[in-house]
Amino acid sequence: MSIPVFADGLTAVNLRTEYKVNPVTDATAPRLSWELTSDKRNQMQSSYQILVASAPSLLNEDKIDLWNSGQVKSRATAQVQYSGKTLVSRQLCYWKIRSWNQDGIAGPWSGVSTFEIGLLSKDQWSAQWIGLDLDNLGKGKTYHLPPAPYLRKEIKIKTGVKKARLYVTALGLYEFSINGKKTGTDFLTPGWTDYHKRVYYQTYDVTADLETGVNVLGSQLSYGWYAGYLGYSLLVGNPVVRAFYGKVPLLKAQLEVSYNDGSTQTFATGADWKASKGALTESDLLNGETYDARLELSGWQKPGFNDSSWQKPEVYQDKEDRKIQTYPGPPVKITGELTVKSQTKRADGSWIFDLGQNLAGIVRIKVKGAAGDTIRIRYGEKLYPDGHLMTENLRMARATDYYILKGDPKGESWEPKFTFHGFQYVEIKGFKEKPDAGTLLGLVIGSDTPKTGSFETDNKMVNQLYSNIDWTQRSNYIDIPTDCPQRDERIGWTGDAQVYVKSATFNRDVASFFTKWNVDLADGQFENGAYPLYAPAPNLRKTDTFSPGWMEAGIICPYQIYQTYGDTRIIEQGWPNMVRFMDFLEKRSGGNHVFKETAFKDLDPKGGFGDWLSFGQKTPPDMLASFYYAYCADLMTEMAGAIGNQSEQKRFSDTSDKIRKAVLAHYTDTTGRFICDAKVYGKGEGYVDGNLGFSGNTQTAYANAIYMNIVSKNNINKAGNFLAELIKENGGKLATGFLGAKPLLPALSASGNSALAYDLFLSKEFPSWGFEVENGSTTIWERWDSFTNEDGFKYNAAMNSFNHYAFGAVCEWMFSNAAGIQQTHPGFDHFDIKPEIDPKSGAGRIDNLKATFHTMHGEIISAWKKDGVHLTMQVTVPVNTTADIYVPADLTDQLTVDGKKVASSKDVVVKKGEKGFIILEVGSGNYVIKRQ
Ligand code: BGC
Repeated sequence: MSIPVFADGLTAVNLRTEYKVNPVTDATAPRLSWELTSDKRNQMQSSYQILVASAPSLLNEDKIDLWNSGQVKSRATAQVQYSGKTLVSRQLCYWKIRSWNQDGIAGPWSGVSTFEIGLLSKDQWSAQWIGLDLDNLGKGKTYHLPPAPYLRKEIKIKTGVKKARLYVTALGLYEFSINGKKTGTDFLTPGWTDYHKRVYYQTYDVTADLETGVNVLGSQLSYGWYAGYLGYSLLVGNPVVRAFYGKVPLLKAQLEVSYNDGSTQTFATGADWKASKGALTESDLLNGETYDARLELSGWQKPGFNDSSWQKPEVYQDKEDRKIQTYPGPPVKITGELTVKSQTKRADGSWIFDLGQNLAGIVRIKVKGAAGDTIRIRYGEKLYPDGHLMTENLRMARATDYYILKGDPKGESWEPKFTFHGFQYVEIKGFKEKPDAGTLLGLVIGSDTPKTGSFETDNKMVNQLYSNIDWTQRSNYIDIPTDCPQRDERIGWTGDAQVYVKSATFNRDVASFFTKWNVDLADGQFENGAYPLYAPAPNLRKTDTFSPGWMEAGIICPYQIYQTYGDTRIIEQGWPNMVRFMDFLEKRSGGNHVFKETAFKDLDPKGGFGDWLSFGQKTPPDMLASFYYAYCADLMTEMAGAIGNQSEQKRFSDTSDKIRKAVLAHYTDTTGRFICDAKVYGKGEGYVDGNLGFSGNTQTAYANAIYMNIVSKNNINKAGNFLAELIKENGGKLATGFLGAKPLLPALSASGNSALAYDLFLSKEFPSWGFEVENGSTTIWERWDSFTNEDGFKYNAAMNSFNHYAFGAVCEWMFSNAAGIQQTHPGFDHFDIKPEIDPKSGAGRIDNLKATFHTMHGEIISAWKKDGVHLTMQVTVPVNTTADIYVPADLTDQLTVDGKKVASSKDVVVKKGEKGFIILEVGSGNYVIKRQ
């Protein structure tokens, strides 16, 4: 029976599987999602039908061979699980979907999308781990940097290739090529994991890359996170500084070819490959690369190359319990290019190039010269006033690349493959000719997370700040959420990640990025149940364990992914780990449900990192740990509910009540102020900034207490007043560090102090977000005073990153409060638009703001413009969602919707609600609301 399709039905677009377009996945019940479009208002899906088939020609109800969902009554357009025939490794699936709207009208079938199942079990790998041990080379200098191994194999392909897939991974980093062409466009593959436990592989469709006859499979390996230098181990004097997982990078690759005649062939890495060293004589993530073009193995990636002098690679045993799985995250790629803004010759003959933007990436250089000429490339985020490169803040990372010319008269072009740097300025030594416009190009690298947000106002400082936040995210979401891209660190610090995760979701689609990192977190969980300081978590410093404010990333990050994307699988998968963490906290609190002063004195530093980089007296880390404990219990309560686990829902809700009671009893006085017994900390020795003394009565304490609902609803305004008082006493300035800065403005807004939140947000005085912008930042700084015009670089050679996203967590307030986009149902099925309008106008203020945010349902827009007493709001609500628009007004009569009085608009329902607001409930569509 054919169902009539009406022109005004819903159209499904942006079909995705496991958050990706046409991916390869290991999920055997992959989750499908789509967005619906319509040019009509108030559109909702009432049911859907999905067809999945093994060939496009079978995507028809009569022929379907994998899954016909039938018409399913449901509003779900995301996280819909495939529930057809069992899927097996290598299965290629084609799918399409159609939706019925609220009136039962069917929309047209969508276009066709695909997903493919990876290699589901280890025994489907015939490929072996192969490598060439060059670890004895490259010693004797400051760093031990052995050359990169090259691997090759000639294979014969018959005519009539139908389908070819390359499954490839490395312990270390790999680049793969077929007949000299790089396979795929990914960078830093296969990504960082706890390689003892798991390694990911990539799958590439290489059907078009094979030729009939002889083909060459080639690969270059590097040391990467597996065998290279890592983190700050050098700085802290750890006995091990490199090769944390192994010494020799290894490749495992398997090319599977199916022919039109039904035959198949598999070519896999093994002892019959050939191995050599080559032109890439040094290759390290933190320290950079050296490429000696004179040593180029010309033609090694082409058939007929004489590899008789090459060695047999060594075959390495696999670790039996190491999992090998499809890479679940968004691949790291070159996501943009930056051209040179200016170039200056220095007295020593070197050149400084300014890319105008701080970034994480590499450069491509074009040079001409004689064989043996050496080009030295150094990177820096800042220049000194006299124009020379500031490199002290790279600390022990060499972060230098060398290119040695072969002397090609036509010129030579080069870019590194297995390293990246954090920089805005590039210093090059060794040019024989004056560089021109084509000499250098900046290549931006990062996890390829699709852009989802934009934020624009009539205030230049704010626009630059938003650009800085997004650039900092791009520069630090590199396979894992790193802290910074430039110095000897670049690790997945959990504290930074948890304070920023919600902000991240507004800017870019980070669903699969955090799906990947959540596994790293679980892999790094300690025996006792604590999540680590950083993940993946090799022991970079002997005493590194866990810290309050950091370890809670194990709860907060998956919770945010659930909230933003409606993802319950991330909860289910991590549930046992999360419960284990909660058990750990319970045990540690000794059944008291509060962490009293010095409860974490066994950590190094004592108490953990606390409100890292705050000013003034320290908020007791144990008090913050107690707040986080309550907060985690709340998130667990909600997540237990989301996965239908009622007993644990009850358990955590009870725990949360007990913690709140215990915390308030211990850490507040009779007036409701936060207090602590500072004496117990003595002189504060061993605590971060412990010499400054401890106080419960800090900005950070109230900001967190309000944000995490530690104080009861009735007392929020009181706590907000204490907070506002402290800010006033501090000359109207913030004093918060990593843990206090994120909740600061949200807490002010939640407690009736929106005007003060705006003053702090728009301030340009030190310390503030605006101060950084005023001082020329293009990314977010690690410290409020990483650089000042008066004092220059105060913290040189110490912790002084100019590309550190923690303070960028103000982004959460920008979207949720200034633009007022507030999710009220997981996945943004329903949301509020409740913008806070800047109460002041004129220079340095905001009169006009527009934020867009692409959700699983499509784009939300919230814009407002004020003109004297008049206010115009523009709101876009995606199909299949509803919103409550909070218009700041007292009387409905003051308002028009699309030029008509509210009473005569059939598309809005006026709801009773908060004082000072008229609440308009709307369905999908665009709305222009004016307040006279
Ligand atoms: C990192 C931080 C991190 C911190 C631990 C720093 O060196 O860069 O961002 O969270 O150490 O406190």
